[in-house]
Amino acid sequence: MTVRYTLNRLWIIISAVNIRIKIMGIVLGLVVLLGATVTVQVRSILAQNMYAQLEDQSISVGHDLAARSTDLILINDAYALHELLYDTQTNNANVRYLFVVSPDGEILDHTFGDGFPPQLLEANTVLASADHHTRLLNTDEGKVWDTAVPIFGGQAGTARIGISDVSVRRTVNSITGQLLLTTLLVSAIGVTAATALTWVLTRPILQLVQAAQAVGQSDFTQRVTRWANDEIGDLSDAFNAMTEQLELAAKERTERDQLRVKYVSGVIAAQEEERKRIARELHDSTSQTLTSLLIGLRTLSDSCEYPEIRTHAEELRSIAAKTLDEVHTLAFQLRPSVLDDLGLPEALQRHIADCRRRYNFNIDLAINGLEQRLPTDIETALYRITQEALTNISRHAKAETASVCVERRENKVIAIIDDDGRGFDLQAIDQSNGHLGLYGIRERVELLAGNLEIESAPEMGTSLFIEIPLEE
Ligand SMILES: Nc1ncnc2c1ncn2[C@@H]1O[C@H](COP(=O)(O)OP(=O)(O)OP(=O)(O)O)[C@@H](O)[C@H]1O
Ligand SMILES: [Mg+2]
Repeated sequence: MTVRYTLNRLWIIISAVNIRIKIMGIVLGLVVLLGATVTVQVRSILAQNMYAQLEDQSISVGHDLAARSTDLILINDAYALHELLYDTQTNNANVRYLFVVSPDGEILDHTFGDGFPPQLLEANTVLASADHHTRLLNTDEGKVWDTAVPIFGGQAGTARIGISDVSVRRTVNSITGQLLLTTLLVSAIGVTAATALTWVLTRPILQLVQAAQAVGQSDFTQRVTRWANDEIGDLSDAFNAMTEQLELAAKERTERDQLRVKYVSGVIAAQEEERKRIARELHDSTSQTLTSLLIGLRTLSDSCEYPEIRTHAEELRSIAAKTLDEVHTLAFQLRPSVLDDLGLPEALQRHIADCRRRYNFNIDLAINGLEQRLPTDIETALYRITQEALTNISRHAKAETASVCVERRENKVIAIIDDDGRGFDLQAIDQSNGHLGLYGIRERVELLAGNLEIESAPEMGTSLFIEIPLEE
C-alpha cells in the first residue's frame, strides 16, 4: 500500500516536470551512474593488483637483503651493513624501513635514524626453518607489508623489511580524480547535448501547443512548420490539415449564419408587415363595416313598429358591438398603431393595461429614459418580446406578480421582465417540441446585436435580462 502510494507520488512529481528536465535528468543520471561505477571498479581492481605487487616486492627485497647481509654480519662489518640498508632503501621505491636483528633479538642496524619504534620488533617473526613470513600491518601511515627473512638459516639473525602503500594510494587517488574529472566533463557535454536535443525536440511541440491553444480560441488560421521528417513532422502535417478543415468549416458556418440572419430578419419583417396590413384592414375596413352595421341596426330598431323585430335588431346590434370590440382587440394585438404613431412607452402601457384586464396577476411597469423614440426595429422587438414574456407568465408561471422594466442607458436599452412564479429548468426545454417563444426572443435580440440572459429555476421565478446596443 505504502509502496504503491510512494510510486504514485513519485509518478505525479515526475510527470509534472517538463520534458527538458526529464531528458536532462536521464542523461545526467546515466553519466553519473556510469562514472561512479567505473571509478569504484577501477579503484578496487587497481588497488588489489598493486597490493599484490607490494607484497611480492616486500618478499623479494627481503630475500635480497638477507642474502647480501649474510657475509657482512658474519664478518661483523657494521659499516657495510649500514650502507647496504640505505642503498636498498634508496634503490627501491615503496620501502618504508629495513632492519636486521641478531639471533638473540638485538637490532644490529635499522633505517629509522634515532627513533626505532619499539613495538615493531614483535610485530612480525619468522621461524629459522621458514623461507619468510609476511604480515600486513595497519599503521598510522597506512598499510605496511612487513616481511621477515631468516639470514643464513637464522644463524645470522633476521632481515626485516616494510613496504608501504603510500605511493599506491597516491596513484589510486590520482586515477580516481582523473576518472571523476572525466565524469564531470562527460556530464557537461551530456547536459549541452541534452539541451540541444530538447530544443530540437520541444521546439515543434511548443509551437504545436501554442497553435492548438489558439485554435481552442477559434483562431483557425494557425499553421505550424514541419521541422523534421519524423513523427512530430507527421503530427504537424495532420495538425495543419485539421486547421484547414476547421477554417473551411468555420467559413461555411459564418456564411450559413449570415444567410440565416438575413432569412430570419426577412421573415420577421414580412411578419410585421403582414400583421400591420391585417390590423389596418381590420381597423379600416372590417370595423367600418361593423360600425355601419351597428348604425343600420340602430336605425332599424328605432324605426320599426314591431316589438319582436326591434328586440331581435337590438340583440343583433349587441352581437355586432361585441364583434367590433373583439376586432379592435385583435387589431391591437396584431399590431397596435400606437407603436408606430406614439412609440414604445404608450404601446407598452396599453398592452399591459389590456393584460391586467385579462390575466389574474399583478403587473408593474417601469419605463425610464424613453422620452426620445428608439429605432423602429428595436421598438418592435421590445414590444414583441414583452408580449411573449407576459404570455409565457400567464400560461406557465402561476405567478402573483410580474414586472416589466424598460430603461435607456447611455448607449443601450435594457429590458427586464420577471415574475415570482414557479420557474422552470432552462436545460430541459426542447425546441423541437414546438416551444419557440423563448427561441424567438433570443433571435430578435441577437438580430439587433444584443444579449439575452434567462435566469430561472424551479420554484424560483423567472427573469429575462435583455440588453440591446444603440448606435450613436
Ligand atoms: N415565465 C415562465 N415561468 C415558468 N415557465 C416558463 C416561463 N417562461 C417559459 N417557461 C417554460 O419554458 C417553456 C418554453 O417557453 P416558450 O415560450 O419557448 O414555449 P411555449 O410557451 O411552451 O410555446 P410557444 O412556442 O407558444 O411560446 C415553456 O413551455 C414553459 O415550460
Ligand atoms: Mg411561449
